[in-house]
Amino acid sequence: MQVIICLRMSVLSRIGVAIDSDLLDKFDRLILQRGYTNRSEAFRDLIRDELVEKTWESPESQVVGTVTLVYDHHVRMLNEKLTDIQHDYHRSILSTLHVHLDHDHCLEVLVVRGKSVEVRKVADVLISTKGVKHGRLTITTTGTELK
Ligand code: NI
Repeated sequence: MQVIICLRMSVLSRIGVAIDSDLLDKFDRLILQRGYTNRSEAFRDLIRDELVEKTWESPESQVVGTVTLVYDHHVRMLNEKLTDIQHDYHRSILSTLHVHLDHDHCLEVLVVRGKSVEVRKVADVLISTKGVKHGRLTITTTGTELK
């Protein structure tokens, strides 16, 4: 019996980059602060970040992300409004975490998934709701497209 094993391996390429010494010094200090042990991984992360951003530009692309909201729950009807919106867009929202930060403030983190255009819409509607003090959509990837 003959068994054929097919492994799909990515090919590692080495590149040379010409870069201004001052700029490289600043980059090295930055990546040291962030805990990178070598430049290669820092460069790879920068490239991945740009590729993820690019994915989000296409309205039909499937994406995942989180929406973070901070609001004062004493604002009249705000809790109800935010809940209504989340029910309107329930297909895009996978999970919600609610934290009572202090006597007045709430933090909500929503995990969102779907077409880029739909996920952005949910985030825009929630963040622009009157009474939300701060909101941010964080974009990420399902990871399948990245090495
Ligand atoms: Ni709360």
